[in-house]
Amino acid sequence: MGYRVAVVGATGEVGRTFLKVLEERNFPVDDLVLFASERSEGKTLTFKGKEYEVKALTKAPSFKGIDIALFSAGSSTSREYAPRFAQDGAVVVDNSSAWRMDPEVPLVVPEVNPEDIRDFHRKRIIANPNCSTIQMVVVLKPIYDYAGVKRVVVATYQSVSGAGAKAIRELEEQTKAWCSGRDLPEARHIPKRIAFNCVPHIDVFLENDYTKEEMKMLNETRKIMHDENIKVSATCVRVPVFYGHSEAVHLETGRDITPEEVREVLKEAPGVVVVDDPEKGLYPLATDVEGRDEVFVGRIRRDLSFNPGIAMWVVADNIRKGAATNAVQIAELLIKEGLV
Ligand code: A2P
Repeated sequence: MGYRVAVVGATGEVGRTFLKVLEERNFPVDDLVLFASERSEGKTLTFKGKEYEVKALTKAPSFKGIDIALFSAGSSTSREYAPRFAQDGAVVVDNSSAWRMDPEVPLVVPEVNPEDIRDFHRKRIIANPNCSTIQMVVVLKPIYDYAGVKRVVVATYQSVSGAGAKAIRELEEQTKAWCSGRDLPEARHIPKRIAFNCVPHIDVFLENDYTKEEMKMLNETRKIMHDENIKVSATCVRVPVFYGHSEAVHLETGRDITPEEVREVLKEAPGVVVVDDPEKGLYPLATDVEGRDEVFVGRIRRDLSFNPGIAMWVVADNIRKGAATNAVQIAELLIKEGLV
């Protein structure tokens, strides 16, 4: 049996990757409906060798007949349209931040809290966490279960694709201009020049001087792990990398645990690949994980400031595991559990 699947934001970075991931994983799609803004109306995208025309979301009279809707068209679109899809009978898996902290909406990483998916009934919306949070909790959970985690200090090195297709073009254009000695075009989609730079400003600044992106890493981690006591202090930085987020993660653990034990625990963990042999120069790199669905971890060592504590380097493809793949895994779970 197949499903009628809608992709909202189909022309974007995550939207296009939804199509690739659905195809690669042989997701049971009976029919596909693609939505984007009016700018993209009539464009075509290919899925399994067949062309599908993109429809303008605003012009759709109803969303009846859709079983599963995968959303990645920004928070305001999700806020307005996810309830309409849900009302018309679909289950929405939403990639924006609009619904993540709603107590009636489960926030799910299938390797971490698959059981939470069952609570989707009230709104028929399931939220996909923030990309930086997803890759961190996939690695955190097995360590948490083994030794406890009290506190996390994390610095992120986030690629421009996390800010969408326009931010990718912005890095390309600035880099080309810089290399050919021209004046750099003005920064528009990243707050400051991103070529050959690091920008500690993702999403908006809040009253406590953290950014919203940084607070997502605290609040979403607590919700996913069901632990309101876990402390997370994050600094989120945009770097001139096209795909793949990297994170320096420092943990205070509940009890002493050796780096060897952490490696063993993580080797057994679902969705995790350990790449950790510094003598051979082996550690995960954003350039190596592009196009992969797992979370990669290396540089595992004792933390010198937390006692007991562990430091590590965590890398994943933010558009895949950080967005499209995680959402498709949620949809697969819905099917497996007989919820759609
Ligand atoms: P469009 O390509 O027509 O602008 P990205 O995050 O890579 O920038 O992609 C955002 C996606 O969300 C695109 O598919 C974009 O469509 C879509 N989108 C943006 N705003 C709207 C809107 N108001 N209604 C529907 N789709 C939207």
